[in-house]
Amino acid sequence: MNIHIITVLPELLESPFQHSIMKRAQEKGLLQVHVHHLRKWAINKHGQVDDYQYGGGAGMVMMCEPLANAIDELQQEKKFDDIIFMTPDGETFNQKTANQLSLKENILIICGHYKGIDQRIRDTYVTKEISIGDFVLSGGELAAAIVVDAIGRIIPGVLNDETSALTDSFQDNLLAPPVYTRPADYKGLKVPDILLQGDPKKVEDWRYEQALLRTQQRRPDLLKD
Ligand code: ADE
Repeated sequence: MNIHIITVLPELLESPFQHSIMKRAQEKGLLQVHVHHLRKWAINKHGQVDDYQYGGGAGMVMMCEPLANAIDELQQEKKFDDIIFMTPDGETFNQKTANQLSLKENILIICGHYKGIDQRIRDTYVTKEISIGDFVLSGGELAAAIVVDAIGRIIPGVLNDETSALTDSFQDNLLAPPVYTRPADYKGLKVPDILLQGDPKKVEDWRYEQALLRTQQRRPDLLKD
């Protein structure tokens, strides 16, 4: 899978994909992340990519021309399955969207800054608008990093133990059950007996019950779907 990201702050996206599972996904050739600096398509030698908003008001707006030229140039090389704009007024990101996006071949993500991007780019190029929650970040980069991480780890073949993504919270609309490791007794706090008995069926049933209980207690809204 190829993920291209357009940003005015490429430095913010240098580290997130260079460690752990994202690193492994790229080493296995299952994920390629390409970060593009929007200033490459600036309208003048000062590197301008934004301007005052029509109608007045505080905050700059990212201009049509640099973004359109960047997207057009990248699209000459490959057709994108989705052109995503990261924005707090987009559809709230969740595991279902991550699952859907993980099956795509080529995705382009645009990170907004300042007051946002000119509406005409949203109207003509963008196919999906994603928010990572009801709060406002200074820019779309950290949000994009979260989306890429959530997608990248579930690309088939990325995780060694294929089942471990299936038992994550939110797969099946359930939160994950509690987990324990050694020692079996930590200062009198004991690991549940059932996990020590070596009966895989009982463990599976216990985990399902715990997942259900935790979801009922913490996120009953998930059980309504
Ligand atoms: N850009 C700024 N805030 C954001 C958010 N909550 N989600 C996605 N992109 C954003």
